[in-house]
Amino acid sequence: MSCFCLVFGKKGPSSATQSSEVDIDISDIENINRYTYKELKIATENFSPANKLGEGGFGSVYKGKLINGTLAAIKVLSAESRQGVKEFLTEIKVISTIEHDNLVKLYGCCVEGDHRILVYEYLENNSLAQTLLGGHSSIQFSWHVRRNICIGVAQGLAFLHDEVQPHIIHRDIKASNILLDKSLKPKISDFGLAKLIPANLTHVSTLVAGTAGYLAPEYAIRSQVTRKSDVYSFGVLLLEIVSGKCNTNRRLPVGERYLLARAWDMYERGELESLVDVFLDRDFNVEEAIRFCKIGLLCTQDSLKLRPTMSKVLGMLIDEMDINEDKMTKPGLIFDIVESKDKGQQKGKAEVENTSSLAGSGIQDDSSLSGTANSFATMTFTSIYDRSN
Ligand SMILES: Nc1ncnc2c1ncn2[C@@H]1O[C@H](COP(=O)(O)OP(=O)(O)O)[C@@H](O)[C@H]1O
Ligand SMILES: [Mg+2]
Repeated sequence: MSCFCLVFGKKGPSSATQSSEVDIDISDIENINRYTYKELKIATENFSPANKLGEGGFGSVYKGKLINGTLAAIKVLSAESRQGVKEFLTEIKVISTIEHDNLVKLYGCCVEGDHRILVYEYLENNSLAQTLLGGHSSIQFSWHVRRNICIGVAQGLAFLHDEVQPHIIHRDIKASNILLDKSLKPKISDFGLAKLIPANLTHVSTLVAGTAGYLAPEYAIRSQVTRKSDVYSFGVLLLEIVSGKCNTNRRLPVGERYLLARAWDMYERGELESLVDVFLDRDFNVEEAIRFCKIGLLCTQDSLKLRPTMSKVLGMLIDEMDINEDKMTKPGLIFDIVESKDKGQQKGKAEVENTSSLAGSGIQDDSSLSGTANSFATMTFTSIYDRSN
């Protein structure tokens, strides 16, 4: 078996060790399409800002045209990203073998010198964050379109959870990781950041890599990662898609700031219908929209054991399975998480509250979170992982 060993430095004062070693089995990645740096430089017109699609926790994404004329999204890992190389290599290994209609396809990669670049299929209609929730899009998100997006994302996630062996936990389900193709079919991106859970392991320690607002309380606090933490994030996303609102909006009065809290409130008052996006102008299937909201609430319950699996979620979304709301409990909501990345001592501090006591929360709204994503990624809580979840 051929192996090579990569050593990469860790930067930053909080880094406990100066270097990490990652052993990569070449046979794992030799089937991946490889691009030269020069090729990608040409494809992106020298990584021109005009071609930049966005920036996430691990680097910048550019639109590019490959030599064969295919459009691609080219994700350049930033040098500063302390966990970047590891994430990159993990992503390659994982993604290269996985294909599904609702998952973004990896075309290949570039590993040349210090360069670590992923080349993905390009999705014409951007992400849900920039379109549905960003408010700068001409796309008409009718009920029919939203319904298909919810079901498509559920299918992609159920595939990662149940069909892929060993299963994959995404860990960062959020609106900016749901991309839309030209026919508005949703595709989940960045699932390579998830970890493959070795079948012989029942316990793992991991790093929190998700985005606040979508993070299950047990994930944010104890870094406890299970498929049920993805289910929680999916539940938040579901409510966002139905309501057309971001999960957190600090510009609103405290009582209206948190979508989950509002959804629970409305559920208790029997008014879930009013959570549905006003832009739909009442042109939607009321019964179905209320069902989707209830599923969102089932997914975000504080106790992970009470949350349904993604295959059950799918069954409920397509109305093949009844919703058991008799024992539905309040959503768990994190707040005051990593109050400020500048308060070094506070980093990693998070509290959980039920939705009834949100006043004074210091959580930041998603629009201001992009710069703090790395802060979350630095939290290192050890967790006990229960494979049965
Ligand atoms: N395959 C793709 N096709 C089109 N746009 C993409 C693609 N991948 C990423 N993007 C755009 O680039 C942005 C940055 O992506 P990323 O680095 O993954 O960060 P994040 O997911 O946190 O937004 C995304 O929000 C999206 O708008
Ligand atoms: Mg992304």
